[in-house]
Amino acid sequence: MIRSVLIGTGSALPSDCVSNDELAKRVDTSDEWIRERTGITQRYIAAEGETTGTLATAAAQAALDDAGLSIADIDLIVLATATPDNTFPATATKVQHQLGGKDFPAFDVAAVCSGFLYALSTADAMLRTGMATRAIVIGAETFSRILDWEDRTTCVLFGDGAGAFVIEAQDVAADGPGIIASRLHADGEHGDMLYVDGGPSTTGEVGKVRMKGREVFRHAVTNLSSVLGEVLAEAGCQPGDIDWVVPHQANFRILDATARKLGLPMDKVVVTVDRHANTSAASVPLAFDVAKKDGRIQKGDLVMLEAMGGGFTWGASLLRA
Ligand code: ACO
Repeated sequence: MIRSVLIGTGSALPSDCVSNDELAKRVDTSDEWIRERTGITQRYIAAEGETTGTLATAAAQAALDDAGLSIADIDLIVLATATPDNTFPATATKVQHQLGGKDFPAFDVAAVCSGFLYALSTADAMLRTGMATRAIVIGAETFSRILDWEDRTTCVLFGDGAGAFVIEAQDVAADGPGIIASRLHADGEHGDMLYVDGGPSTTGEVGKVRMKGREVFRHAVTNLSSVLGEVLAEAGCQPGDIDWVVPHQANFRILDATARKLGLPMDKVVVTVDRHANTSAASVPLAFDVAKKDGRIQKGDLVMLEAMGGGFTWGASLLRA
């Protein structure tokens, strides 16, 4: 069967790392409050000149290097972001140009924190139907640029960064590598619980992140547990078969509550929210890259990716590394 097989990963972070204590000098908050409620200890914030596009390009180049490929081997780029460099063109086309690519499709996908799951599923479908053979799938964000730095209930939660996968269509056995099953969901009824209060067609301004944190928390645990169950059922697997869960890194308590609901021990859950905070669409590929580079995720491991974000949108993918 034709599957999209993961052949390279990469990531990139801005140079400035901001600790909770440093943030507490600018905002009425404390290291203790942030750690206790979220598990976050620090985040990376893009400096002038660092953009979603520059971070995405660096992560994509690292993923190409990891795969031992060059841009000439690629025929698709899908980039998930809620913080594009410009309203248009798509940041994916900038990345294509920066990497020296030409004449193949490159586009952005907007599903906020679940954007990477949406981008990966889209690229996977295009690979399996023969529309492309090798894709770079990127999650990249500079959320720091859309935060209200006067609003302590949101600005302490997010960070900037990028992560990328290179996936390739391969003819593999049923127990071989590749993306096994994916599910995506959206429910626009709850759009006012997590949104940006601007946009080109409404205010004409970029706007800032607004969030009802408690409601988001509640919906996240319910929706994530449910979509994980769906993907496991589609793949004919049990929670105990999973070697690693790489969740969207929103908040340690969401990761913990979701793992508990599924009966998964936390030592199977990759946690990077402590050092990266919530990097929205970048968080899943960034966390995956960290766990692959430090030797936790090995070839042959069964890995569940999951995310939930504004919209609401949510989704999960099960892959064999
Ligand atoms: N520093 C200090 N105090 C704060 C801060 C802060 N940064 N933020 C809020 N507080 C205060 C509030 O003012 C409130 O004070 P009060 O009781 O005097 O009114 C108190 O702390 C409790 O506030 P709550 O909002 O009720 O705190 P809660 O325990 O719900 O934690 C949090 C807030 C961390 C945002 C939590 O609701 C959460 O994690 N929600 C999920 C949101 C999320 O992760 N969104 C990311 C995008 S969606 C996603 O990725 C899944």
